[in-house]
Amino acid sequence: MLFLCLKEMSKKALITSICVLVFSSVVVVSTPPEDPIKCSSQNTTCTITNSYGMFPDRTTCQASQVLYPTTEQELVSIVSSATRKNSKIKVATHYSHSIPKLVCPEGQKGLLISTKYLNKIVKIDVEEKLITVESGVTLKELIKEASKVGLVLPYTPYWFGLTIGGLLGTGAHGSTLWGKGSAVHDYVVEIKIVRPSNFVDGYAKVEILDEQNEDLNAAKVSLGVLGVISQITLKLEPMFKRSISYLAKNDSDLGEKVVIFGHEHEFGDITWYPSQRKAIYRVDDRVPINSSGNGLYDFIPFRPTPSIALSIIRTTEDLHESTSDADGKCRVAKLTTDTLITSAYGLTNNGIIFTGYPVIGFQNRLQSSGSCLDSLKDAKITACAWDSSIKGEFFHQTTFRISLSKVKNFIEDVQKLVELEPKGLCGIEQYNGILMRYVTSSSAYLGNQEDALDFDFTYYRSKDPMSPRLYEDILEEIEQIGIFKYGGLPHWGKNRNLAFEGVIKKYKNVDKFLKVKDRYDSQGLFSSTWTDQMLGLKEGVTILKNGCALEGLCICSQDSHCNPSKGYFCRQGKVYKEARVCTHV
Ligand SMILES: Cc1cc2nc3c(=O)[nH]c(=O)nc-3n(C[C@H](O)[C@H](O)[C@H](O)COP(=O)(O)OP(=O)(O)OC[C@H]3O[C@@H](n4cnc5c(N)ncnc54)[C@H](O)[C@@H]3O)c2cc1C
Ligand SMILES: *[C@@H]1O[C@H](CO)[C@@H](O)[C@H](O)[C@H]1NC(C)=O
Ligand SMILES: *[C@@H]1O[C@H](CO)[C@@H](O)[C@H](O)[C@H]1NC(C)=O
Ligand SMILES: *[C@@H]1O[C@H](CO)[C@@H](O)[C@H](O)[C@H]1NC(C)=O
Repeated sequence: MLFLCLKEMSKKALITSICVLVFSSVVVVSTPPEDPIKCSSQNTTCTITNSYGMFPDRTTCQASQVLYPTTEQELVSIVSSATRKNSKIKVATHYSHSIPKLVCPEGQKGLLISTKYLNKIVKIDVEEKLITVESGVTLKELIKEASKVGLVLPYTPYWFGLTIGGLLGTGAHGSTLWGKGSAVHDYVVEIKIVRPSNFVDGYAKVEILDEQNEDLNAAKVSLGVLGVISQITLKLEPMFKRSISYLAKNDSDLGEKVVIFGHEHEFGDITWYPSQRKAIYRVDDRVPINSSGNGLYDFIPFRPTPSIALSIIRTTEDLHESTSDADGKCRVAKLTTDTLITSAYGLTNNGIIFTGYPVIGFQNRLQSSGSCLDSLKDAKITACAWDSSIKGEFFHQTTFRISLSKVKNFIEDVQKLVELEPKGLCGIEQYNGILMRYVTSSSAYLGNQEDALDFDFTYYRSKDPMSPRLYEDILEEIEQIGIFKYGGLPHWGKNRNLAFEGVIKKYKNVDKFLKVKDRYDSQGLFSSTWTDQMLGLKEGVTILKNGCALEGLCICSQDSHCNPSKGYFCRQGKVYKEARVCTHV
């Protein structure tokens, strides 16, 4: 997204050299992401946020203590002592990547249990192709260790900075309609979870849930409300190779194509640039293990990026927003996406350079990336683009999945909006457009309900909550079309508050989930007002106040929910008349 917009600031001759500089940054010093937990010097109060440094409602959360267990036994004694004290508890991870306030314990006196040092590989059974890991192990580590013995997970999220406990917590996934599907939780065969209990059990109990135990369907995607997962066992596959080619097409028949494409290519996904009327099909299939090639995927937006470039890009973006310069945004978007396309998004044929498609390589080198995590401390030369400690990207993310039976209509609605406002979606193209991935129905109670296509939108967020975005109305309308007109399911780990309005009614087994929750944690120590709201147990997912619709805290119902002083009023949608969006009048 990033770098390339430098063009905006520079004269033509400079462009190439700056881009080269940015690309070569891969090798230099990078700053590790900020720790999401910060404690006062005496450790009497701690604040927790997410890796972006900001929850949807811009508050931070507090805890009176943070503990870092290194073994399951320590975990048991921590849960036991917290339960005895009736303390609220939440589990935090190394980077805390989820956008919603899942990590916040209720009130200010709660306890945070971090899985940062619960990060060991417990066992690999090569014969049975099983790996058992502690819940704080990152996806990166899991991929690395499994591949050493010739095993892989077939489908994973594209960013490997996630922990296994965290990605299960929100149902994270990659892309496929094949096999057991794209969600990591559908490869779980056993979970060990430490939960509160009565004094007979010593106030804490370790549940061992295997596939025979129906409670596993609750624990696979739990939003962290059942207790602390200590260990996870996943079913792996023998190593295989993949062949990847990106194919650019116009998007006129995108709605017709998506379902067929998903069935045709095992790892396929689509990146859609709607304002450019272009779709990039990732043609991605399994190939025989003896096919030649040692390709590597090091996705460019997940590489270390020079802080100076990030700052320039952000300044440019702020400027385009404040001057309503839609053409400027469209130019940056085009340059960004063109550069990503020509550089194959970070694919290389041999780990060093890209010489052409197809890129063939081993699964462990292609499935996921995140080189911006590798870094030395205390040098702010480069960082992950969204690092909150520097001036860099700051965005909202709206992500929902729409049943394959309705997805064509959704795509066509978005195309109608583009017809009406051709520049309206340049802003998301600056963040590499709409990422579309295939997800499958799951037995997990809070997992996906049907085979579906997941849409991922990333877009500018102002540092000023009262400041509307350019074409505010178009994105708000798409969000409401996806989630309400077509009943889309929001990703539990992304999104703004309004996406979760009434969400629980979309899950047919929620009653089963809630029964397990009551059995595992009858006092609700691992629950908070926010998780209760997500689960439909309390009202108030949305927050009504001035400007609330601009931040996605509400759907506007009156003008003050937008910002009349800047000319934004609450109006109906252009394509979906039931939508209520902040429109510049
Ligand atoms: C750059 C980037 C790329 C991403 N790419 C993808 C993608 O490709 N696909 C996708 O689906 N998502 C993706 N995500 C979203 C991400 O998958 C989710 O936000 C994920 O849940 C974050 O994992 P985490 O380890 O940071 O967990 P957190 O966000 O810290 O935790 C998530 C939830 O799980 C709970 N939890 C964590 N560990 C435990 C435990 N041991 N026991 C009980 N509860 C626990 C937490 O309390 C919290 O409720 C991406 C996010 C980022 C920042
Ligand atoms: C605060 O907690 C951290 C992490 O557990 C620990 O390293 C540090 O020593 C503690 N500081 C004090 C003053 O107790
Ligand atoms: C899009 O591509 C198809 C062929 O794939 C072609 O028939 C059609 O005319 C193109 N549409 C536009 C607007 O270029
Ligand atoms: C791969 O192996 C198969 C069967 O062992 C063989 O038929 C094929 O020719 C081999 N292909 C390459 C590229 O070596």
